Amino acid sequence: MCGIVGYVGTKDAATFVYDGLKKLEYRGYDSAGIAAINGTLDIRRAEGKLGNLAVKLQAEPLRGAIAIGHTRWATHGAPVERNAHPHADESNSVAVVQNGIVENFMTLRVQLQAEGHLFKSDTDTEVITHLIDKYLAEGQNLTEACRLAFQQIRGAHAIAVVSQLEPDKIVTVRIGNAGGVIIGYGQEENYLASDIPAILEHTQRMVFLEDREMAVITARGVQYLQLDGTPLHKEVQHINWDHVSAAKGRYRHFMQKEIYEQPQAIQNTLRGRVNFTTNEVKFEGLRLTATEAQELRHIIIVACGTSAYAGLVGKFVIEKLAKVSVEVDYASEFRYRDPLVDKQTAILAITQSGETVDTLAAMDEGKIKGARLWSIVNAQGSMAHRISDGTILMQAGPEIGVASTKAFTTTITDLVLLGLYLGQLRGTLSAQEREEVVMALARLPELAGEVLAEHYNDYDTLANLYHKQDHFLFLGRGPNYPIALEGALKLKEISYIHAEGYPAGEMKHGPIALIDERMPVVCIVTQDHVYDKMISQIEQVRARNGIVISLINEGDKAVTAKSNHILTIPPTHPLTTPIISVIPLQLLAYHMAVKRGADVDQPRNLAKSVTVE
Ligand code: AGP
Repeated sequence: MCGIVGYVGTKDAATFVYDGLKKLEYRGYDSAGIAAINGTLDIRRAEGKLGNLAVKLQAEPLRGAIAIGHTRWATHGAPVERNAHPHADESNSVAVVQNGIVENFMTLRVQLQAEGHLFKSDTDTEVITHLIDKYLAEGQNLTEACRLAFQQIRGAHAIAVVSQLEPDKIVTVRIGNAGGVIIGYGQEENYLASDIPAILEHTQRMVFLEDREMAVITARGVQYLQLDGTPLHKEVQHINWDHVSAAKGRYRHFMQKEIYEQPQAIQNTLRGRVNFTTNEVKFEGLRLTATEAQELRHIIIVACGTSAYAGLVGKFVIEKLAKVSVEVDYASEFRYRDPLVDKQTAILAITQSGETVDTLAAMDEGKIKGARLWSIVNAQGSMAHRISDGTILMQAGPEIGVASTKAFTTTITDLVLLGLYLGQLRGTLSAQEREEVVMALARLPELAGEVLAEHYNDYDTLANLYHKQDHFLFLGRGPNYPIALEGALKLKEISYIHAEGYPAGEMKHGPIALIDERMPVVCIVTQDHVYDKMISQIEQVRARNGIVISLINEGDKAVTAKSNHILTIPPTHPLTTPIISVIPLQLLAYHMAVKRGADVDQPRNLAKSVTVE
């Protein structure tokens, strides 16, 4: 999950690369470095956050109009300076950065050491540098030396290389799914990045490399080739995100900004997909006929983390609206369990980044077994977007905070739309049922705005009271059960408080042993078909002196009387409730993390896009 940025043109390359890395720091931030060429190759690297590299660059600036840089999420070798990328060869003529893992690096290292190559780091990446060096010494030009080296390594990689021997070019390659390799087109300058936000303020014209594709980037243009050396033509895409939306603006954290962007993000997700007069939904991107929809027997949703929890809501929604059975599986489990899949099965991958390696592998598994491959993706042009038979783009806009928020609510909005769409095609929905759900969707941006506008102090009060807690429980039922899981994940991943989400009915089968006066229990209890059941769960928590924090519909006096604290949301249709009920839990996690002085946007050990297993 590292970040890579490259620049070749006429300006100060190191400054461009540093600014780009700042926008990618959410991808990995335990060390960083930049290599630039100004006649000769020069490298600066630093342990820890990118700011440490800035101090070095201030003291010893890098010069030149070509550079590559890297922020690291350590896999092989501790996050110390000598393991930071870029890695140079002994003669300091070649520098390499990598996102991914060289799975056969030990074999190559031993072989290269036997040939006299001296290694300076514990990383797998350094073997790439020495392989290139070896082929250069045999008389190959830089592109060919890189290509031959790339063919020797095994695993998934995104790699960039510069050399003072040919100081006008950056050579890059994508092999497998180790994160994106994006080429950006400027005026007399061109760019390289792992993710769109790094170069979005400079260009919206981009090319996305596919598996086993290379590019040779110069200020004058870009040449594409396959890893086997075959020339390649690539279409330039226009990316319709604007760079302002990828900046923090007046907010303290990206996560805070993205929580408050949700009304607009939901609005953008609905736009152009729902006819609010006829209550019809359209998803051309799925390329699905009525017959194909009617022949569908099973949908398997594959995803990771927050996206998997959105998938669990999707199960309720799609089964209810389209009467087709839905299974949800963690992508990391699905890919290894030899799943039962056939032509009447659709695999629906949910992935904000579109680059999560487990999700991409699950998609490959589904495709091999003959399933139709759909995806709900936020990052336009990502691998998941490109390998799908049909894609629903989330329209959430760039999500920079490592903890996913607006991508979650826009995904569930898309899942409700998908349920309606399939219901329409399969004839499983009455006009009245469709109208009720469409009307609820239409009000979501307003309701989300209401939740965000009120009760700010409630979250601050709860954070003051409970930010020192060691444990939290979250309980929910029906479509709110996945919201309990998501609320727990938000809290644990940004505040480092241990938190567990549970289906409320399960509490008496074990977790109830944890409940005493030190255990805050967040109970999601909205007016739906399991409301009474949730009340008895609250009673069970109270009987053991647990601290009850209830998330209720406004005006619910009965539950208020049974709770230590309440958070309120406006009522909406049961199938759209999860889109609203998650927002207070996002805010609770945010306030708790801020009160604890945690690094909200870049929580320890995490990264925005998990491109390694
Ligand atoms: C969410 O808050 C986490 N950062 C993480 O669980 C994330 O949802 C997961 O890694 C999946 O990412 P994706 O949606 O980009 O595939």
